[in-house]
Amino acid sequence: MVKVILDMDPGIDDALAIMLALNSPELEVLGITAVSGNVHVDKSSVNALRVLETMGYMDIPVYRGAATPLVKELVTAEWVHGEDGLGDAGLPMPMRKPLEGAVKFLVDMLTSERNVTLVATGPLTNIAHALLIEPQLTRRISRLILMGGAYGLTPYGYGNETPVSEFNIYVDPEAAKIVFQSGLKPLCVGLDVTTDPKATLSKNDVEKMASSSSETARTAAKIVWRFAERFGFVQLHDPMAVAASIKPDLFKTSHHHVYVVCEGELTRGQTIVEKRFWVKKEPNAEVCEQVDGPRFLEMFLERISEA
Ligand code: RIB
Ligand code: CA
Repeated sequence: MVKVILDMDPGIDDALAIMLALNSPELEVLGITAVSGNVHVDKSSVNALRVLETMGYMDIPVYRGAATPLVKELVTAEWVHGEDGLGDAGLPMPMRKPLEGAVKFLVDMLTSERNVTLVATGPLTNIAHALLIEPQLTRRISRLILMGGAYGLTPYGYGNETPVSEFNIYVDPEAAKIVFQSGLKPLCVGLDVTTDPKATLSKNDVEKMASSSSETARTAAKIVWRFAERFGFVQLHDPMAVAASIKPDLFKTSHHHVYVVCEGELTRGQTIVEKRFWVKKEPNAEVCEQVDGPRFLEMFLERISEA
């Protein structure tokens, strides 16, 4: 059993990541820490509770984290995720309220519990704050898996917020820089693999989910419906990061030194891989360069469709 903490900005695909994590017997979700990203943390923290309670989980704690990035102005993505952040699908509001103190929860839990995997699927603001407060965390976190970056390792490895920058890194590049320079050596699930067409839900998949006997699958279909109508497919960025904590053999990875760019209209949030063989730089990240898309999709659909 892998103990995990999910740090996220629900968000349509974050919601599906929660569903996959909860329907995976290999994982024990210790808690969710919310951050501003797709939507403001006032909404992303409540959205995590909305998904948990729709699935019948009343005991997993959700903590409200950073409302703004370390330095930059907050940029959100309601145009993608809907005004409410969950596709404006009308999921019921939760009974519970988010708890305060996401960063304190991260520091306390990662200090007291051994072998915790941190799966980050939003901007890295909370994690950077935790590392600034307690640098020893780099020795306490068993594994950091992050959905973020575009590393140019596949034909799909280009940006989605700018031509070169992925949204999570773009929103808080200073936080990402702290994480990449911390020595944590994260496993990076970037757009290089998450936008692989073979790892993407089709409209047909969504229609099948909508008529599934599983309420979780039907709820997932509701959340992604407008996105699928609009774009014709649904990329599963965040569920893929959760999948990496369950089945690492779905991925081929390589170790690189990654630079995070913090400035420039088009380059802010760019994650650059050092490829010059004569430049000797210690690798600071393990980056996914291939995913078995069909096997990932099969696992995702199977597990969210479990009763
Ligand atoms: O670039 C995709 C990432 O940005 C996903 O985590 C999505 O939820 C948004 O946060
Ligand atoms: Ca996200």
